[in-house]
Amino acid sequence: MSESNKLISPAKIGDLSLGCPLIVAPVQTGYGKQTGEVTEEHFSFWERRSEHAGAVIVEPFFLEPHLRQIPTQIGIHSDEMLPGLARLAGKIKARGARAIAHLNHPGRMANPAIPENIYLSSSDKPCKNGGKKPTRMNIRQIEEAQDLFAKAALRAEKAGFDLVELQFGDGYLIAQFLSPDLNDRDDTYGGTMENRFRFALEVLAKVKESCSLPVVARISGSEMFEGGFDITEMLQFSRALEKAGVSAINVSSGSVCETPAWHFQHVSIAKRKTWEMASQIKAELRVPVITGGQVNSKQDINQILDGGMADFATVGKQLIADPDFLGKVLGHIAGPVRPCLACLEGCVGGIHRANKLSCTINPRVGRDEAQLAETPWKKKIAVVGGGPAGMEAALVLKERGHDVTLFEKDKLGGQLNLASLAPRKRNLNKLIAYYKQRVEKEIKAVLRTPEPEELVREYELVLLAHGSVQADPNIPGLEEFAGIEILDPRNMPRGKNVVIIGEGFSAVDAAEALADNNNSVTLVCKSREILPDSQMISRNIAVRSLENLNVRILVKSEVTRKKGDRVFVNYQGREQVIEGVDRVVVLEGMLPSSDYEKELRGKVDLCKAGDCRLVGSAIDAIHSGYECARLV
Ligand SMILES: Cc1cc2nc3c(=O)[nH]c(=O)nc-3n(C[C@H](O)[C@H](O)[C@H](O)COP(=O)(O)O)c2cc1C
Ligand code: SF4
Repeated sequence: MSESNKLISPAKIGDLSLGCPLIVAPVQTGYGKQTGEVTEEHFSFWERRSEHAGAVIVEPFFLEPHLRQIPTQIGIHSDEMLPGLARLAGKIKARGARAIAHLNHPGRMANPAIPENIYLSSSDKPCKNGGKKPTRMNIRQIEEAQDLFAKAALRAEKAGFDLVELQFGDGYLIAQFLSPDLNDRDDTYGGTMENRFRFALEVLAKVKESCSLPVVARISGSEMFEGGFDITEMLQFSRALEKAGVSAINVSSGSVCETPAWHFQHVSIAKRKTWEMASQIKAELRVPVITGGQVNSKQDINQILDGGMADFATVGKQLIADPDFLGKVLGHIAGPVRPCLACLEGCVGGIHRANKLSCTINPRVGRDEAQLAETPWKKKIAVVGGGPAGMEAALVLKERGHDVTLFEKDKLGGQLNLASLAPRKRNLNKLIAYYKQRVEKEIKAVLRTPEPEELVREYELVLLAHGSVQADPNIPGLEEFAGIEILDPRNMPRGKNVVIIGEGFSAVDAAEALADNNNSVTLVCKSREILPDSQMISRNIAVRSLENLNVRILVKSEVTRKKGDRVFVNYQGREQVIEGVDRVVVLEGMLPSSDYEKELRGKVDLCKAGDCRLVGSAIDAIHSGYECARLV
């Protein structure tokens, strides 16, 4: 079968035919109510992502209110949930996709911030990365948990779902029994491999007894840490699952407790590794195998399908970043893909911070899933600044029907061009390419600085998005310092002693790049940790990377003065001197640029987006550009 045929051909799980072998992966949205009911936000989010999919694995449903991963999770714990669940399944199916109910018991990974939650596990060991001490389950509790899966599967069938997926991996309850690292039991559910498989196989048997839907088992190919289970055991487990009647096996990797970067597939993870484990399982089984993890291009999908690694490919984050991704891959929708950065900042970070999914590069997630309506008041608008805020704003203004001209003094992309030079930020190049392709096709882009008189004369509204300027750091003796331009290879020092002042992504990225270039680097940050506003997975990875590169991090510290090549630091109340400093890099203290304001204010309608409104990350700039353009 040729490449394109495989991608567009119907494929089967059990007796059930799917329009194509592309499956949407389950991601928590947090759009629910405390009662567990489905909401309108769920409909618009999941409907939009069902449009070109073979099947959609809807976000995990809780089996009991005291077993929730987030307070606003969808419930399948009572028949009262059936009308909402039926509407959700119906909407997915109306778009031509199969609806899959994902059933999960979190075990010790139930959310510790939910007061009524209970914590159960194979042992009484809490998750090292945070979580309550669980109760070691007794036989009665094991049977009760199994019955919850069976009852939920029956409800899924009554609600009209086509399949159920049982979460047997990713560090949740069943995996907590599979894991030799955690399961220290000496009864029939612990010890030997067969005993550790028992809980899962009994759940499967009860689910198959209670409903007639085909069952997919989701497993982790490996826990990806020393002492956890690995692919050798999971091959045995897969054979046992096949023998016990699963219709397909969905292979992910990692554990939400010990190895969350694998579970959520952070950009630092080698994506092929999970697909390779799926391929090993596929080679041994007759039932179809599903896999995914950072699938964000047609090439990725073809590698999985045509490379014979799996029969189905799943897509999660890439569909948060661009709900049209599958349509674009299948050739039904034109245009470039808005590329997921695998940063986890908006999606996983949004769930952790506010129990609500968002996306760093797609401001529409969860609010404007449909195309924006055209405005009845079309205007001639100039956007000044071709960085992320300006480009996003220009595209949205155009979508809303305005006549838009974008002015950029230098190069489209603005600060993103420099940020993308950092070793772990190469993904930003894809984002720049996406914006450039769209702007060059859809917008009048002019590469020059416009005169204020021209803006007043020619336009009805001016949207300023021309960035920020460095404030004087006010450090006695510091006369010369570099900024983010240090990342440009032409400016990059080698073999020097460098002090960086800052704590956000630009400071961390610069520290990595400088250390990579053989410089000795000290990072001085005010907060008690680097990346204080970031989510834990990125922070932990950054800390490890800086440690490996021998970057010295001084937290709760401030540079107080510089004298010659000596930099004085207030290090947690004590003075420390860094000797022999060749360069200082300041990556904090930017101020909104006020250029144009005086000349334009009162003469033409004005609005501001990005750093020139409020200094933030490049990603904040995208959201700000969107917001501004949406309101004009
Ligand atoms: C915000 C977010 C929430 C997720 N929630 C869950 C979850 O509750 N249960 C689960 O099994 N997987 C969850 N996942 C993992 C995804 O199903 C998927 O395996 C993972 O994101 C890797 O695939 P991707 O790179 O295509 O996104 C979540 C992923 C994200 C990004
Ligand atoms: S927040 Fe980052 S990782 Fe998550 S979907 Fe958006 S771009 Fe991808």
